[in-house]
Order: sequence, then structure tokens, then C-alpha cells
Amino acid sequence: MSKIVSLCKRRGFVFQSSEIYGGLKSCYDYGPLGAELKRNIAAEWWRSMVYERDNIVGLDASIMMHPQVWQTSGHLSGFSDPLVDCLNCKERFRADKAPRAEPGSSVNYVAGGKSGGAKLSAPVTDKGYVCPQCGAPTLSDERQFNLMFRTSLGPVDPLTEVARELDGKALPAAKIREMLEDAARKSVTYLRPETAQSMFVQFLNVQQSMSMKVPFGIAQVGKSFRNEIVTEHFIFRSCEFEQMEMEFFCEPGTQKEWMTYWRDERMAWYHRYANDKNAFRLRAHENDELAHYSDECYDVEYMYPWGWGELEGIASRTDYDLSRHAAESGVKLSYFDQQKTDPATGKPGWRYVPYVIEPAAGLTRSVLCFLIDAYAEETGVDAEGEGKTRVLLKLHPRLAPYKAAILPLVKKDGQPEMAMELVKEFRRLGINVSYDDKQSIGKRYSRHDEIGTPYCLTIDNDSVKDGTLTLRDRDTAKQVRLPVAEAVAAVKARLDAGM
Ligand code: GAP
Repeated sequence: MSKIVSLCKRRGFVFQSSEIYGGLKSCYDYGPLGAELKRNIAAEWWRSMVYERDNIVGLDASIMMHPQVWQTSGHLSGFSDPLVDCLNCKERFRADKAPRAEPGSSVNYVAGGKSGGAKLSAPVTDKGYVCPQCGAPTLSDERQFNLMFRTSLGPVDPLTEVARELDGKALPAAKIREMLEDAARKSVTYLRPETAQSMFVQFLNVQQSMSMKVPFGIAQVGKSFRNEIVTEHFIFRSCEFEQMEMEFFCEPGTQKEWMTYWRDERMAWYHRYANDKNAFRLRAHENDELAHYSDECYDVEYMYPWGWGELEGIASRTDYDLSRHAAESGVKLSYFDQQKTDPATGKPGWRYVPYVIEPAAGLTRSVLCFLIDAYAEETGVDAEGEGKTRVLLKLHPRLAPYKAAILPLVKKDGQPEMAMELVKEFRRLGINVSYDDKQSIGKRYSRHDEIGTPYCLTIDNDSVKDGTLTLRDRDTAKQVRLPVAEAVAAVKARLDAGM
């Protein structure tokens, strides 16, 4: 993991946000190559979800929505994690993720959690967990911490309003809190914690404007925000992240077969781009893991360096969301199928609330997963017989930031001009390539191996004389000679292979 984090910074994939000011916890910026990788993953998802299907269309909804959306969806009351403070080292952590210990057993820890502190011991409470940082069982009560970021819309600052009201008054803390909540409520809005809800509340607009017939889906890629208590593992869990979600609306009673279909489709999608297919698995949720509205759920899990963890959730959400939003808004979020018979009345025509299957993937988490899957080190010997290690990113060509690097061997003798002509040809086709004439050819090959460029096309002296070049394959390091005129077609054929 530390090698990947270091490569990400060194080669312009991911930087710490606001680094010159010491960074901001869990916030990351995608550098020139990270932005390309992220866009390519999203584009492949969009291609497989939207462009290759007649029954799925896209949406790009606003991040801030009417606050009632979050009231209705249950996020305001239930989208929270149990937060606990360690009274010994002051660490804040999630109770449900804390290390477990036998209630009543005695555990040892160090005062203040710092080395050199007094050695103490105390019994584990009947909650059965200890502080993940210092191991102490001396903990505050659990309180629910809502993960949504709250903000206010409009030019009124609720704090100024309350400050004015409080001026000169001495009130108890609970009263001040109530006044603050009241003032905030007037202009409150939230940063969305998932992209999904906009697809439910726009169900009717999309269905009617596009004359969609059930079964159909709405797909969306976009930012989501969660004020996570614990952010971890680089970009795996951050407060600002991107999701790729699709809501698939189907007839009640057909949800089981659609769940099987989408579960298998999504696994096949990851396998298409993976080097190590065994590092992906499907895990069915146990009954006690299921949300109250869900009748089946699978996680696509990936074997991260710290163990199996979630990459995507595929949930059967029944008719919960559409029914809830219909009940609260008063707008009928249902579908009328003229061809069907109403099972309740036996009459032709059936109006029903569609059931939903939701494959919900993390885009930024996929960036991490594909980087880990692609990272490889190969040991060999160089031309002088010295042992050396080659670092390479075996990214699928479709995901790679650059599809090819065009390298003039020297910066003279017509080679740069010839290389530039080739670059232009690729760019005319919308294929992102890199023109690179810096440093020795060996260093350039190493650089492009390390950023995952699948092909290097080298223009040399012979190219100018006979119109041929060398095409070097990143993974095998093998080189073949071919006519310059065939280079674009050769790279294009390789990009399309296996798709
Ligand atoms: N609409 C359903 C939903 O949002 P989720 O399991 O909470 O489901 C879906 O999120 C995916 O979004 C996860 O599988 C994960 O890949 C990604 N994700 C969730 N929280 C994240 C975070 N804090 N940082 C990065 N990715 C996250």
C-alpha cells in the first residue's frame, strides 16, 4: 500500500489536498494521471451500463436537494454511526468497528495512551469493546453521529441570526442549541450522501420524457459526501468521494431474477479489467445485515492489502424508495402497464410501484482497487548484467491514462517531426497519447511502465529512412517492428481486443 501511495504522488495520480498548508484530513486531489484513470473507469462503466443498452438512460442531478428528500429517505433519522470517545487517549471512533474484548475481563493500557505513561488496568464494560487506539476500556457512552454534511442555502447566516438574539442573554446550553437548530432549519440543505435518491425523485420525469418501459434503469456518476468518523486506507474511505450507481426499475415479483442478472453482470465487469480475478468475490448479506427495506443484497468485495473489503453493493430495495417519496410528496411514482393484467382485480392494465435493483459502486474506491490490481514488480538484469527491478502498472489498456507513448529516439534528424505527425493522427481519433522526448529511451520506457502506458512507439533513424517504427508492449517488454502507417490501427486493434 505504501508503494502505491508513493507512486500515486510521484507520478501524478493522487495528491493530498491543500498539501502546501499541511493537507486536509481524508481529502485528496486527483492529479493529471489520476484524473484520466478515474474518467476512464467512469467511461467504461457508462459504456457498459448506458451506451450498450436500450433500457438504461443517464442522469446528472444536483448535489444539493430539497431537505425533505433526506427526511423521507430515512437519512436524517437513520444515516448515522455510533460514535464513542476514549476517555483515556481522547480518540474518537466507531463502536461497531472497535476491537472486541470479553465483557468483565481485565485489560491493560497506558495512561494517556502515550508510551511512558503509567500502566493501568480496568475491566471491559458489557458493551464488549475497547479503544482501537490505546486499548482502554474507559469510554464515553455511544451517541449516534449523522454522517450527512449540513450547510445552508442562501445569503442568510443562521449563526449571525442566533448571535443577535443571544446578545446580552444568559441561557442554558440546551436552549442555545434549540435556537441554533431552529435558525439552521430555515435554510438547511445537505450535501448528498449517495447519488441514488435523485434517481428515485426523478423517476417520473425520466420515465415520461424518455418514454421508458419497465424494466428500465437510470444511471448516474457523481460526487457524494459523508462525514465519516473514521477515514481510512488512503482513498478507500474518504469524506468526499464518487459513486457510480444505477437504479433498475422492474415489475414486482421479478426482482429475484434481476438481482441474479445484475450481480453476475457486475462481477463480469470487474473481471473484464482485472489482472487477478480471484481477488474479487461476491458475498451475500446475512439476514441481520439487510436494511429493513431490502430483501436481498450482495457485496462485490476486493482483497485489499488489509483484507477483504467492499467495492460495490448490489441491493434489492423493493418498492421502498418510490413508495416513501410518493407518500410524502403526494406525486404518484408508479407505472401503468397496459399489456398486463392487474393480479388483484384480474382486469386488463396494471398500475404498480416498480421494485428496484441497485448496483452501487464506488468510483474513487475502484481507482484504488484497479491501482492495487495493476501494481507489479519484476526483477531481472539490465544490459550491463546488473540486477534491477521493473515497476509496472498492468492497467487494462482501456483504463490506462495514456494509450500509447510516442518517443523519438533523438531530438533531431526529422524524428520529432515524424513522431508529432503520429501523435496528431492518434489525437484526431480521440485517443489520448503522450509525446515524450525527455531523458534516455530506457528511462522513458521505465516511466511509461510505471504509469501503465500499454504501448510505446519509438521513432528512430530507420523510421526516417524506411517508414517503420518499434512497438513495445508494456507487460512483456517485447518489441516488434511495423510500418508507421499501421501503428495507429495496431494500437486501436489492441485497445478493442477482448471488449
Ligand atoms: N445507494 C447505496 C449506497 O450508497 P453504499 O454501500 O453506502 O450504498 C456504495 O455505497 C459504494 O460507494 C460502496 O460500495 C463504496 O464503494 C462507495 N463508498 C461508500 N462510502 C464511501 C466513502 N466514504 N469513501 C469512498 N467510497 C465510498
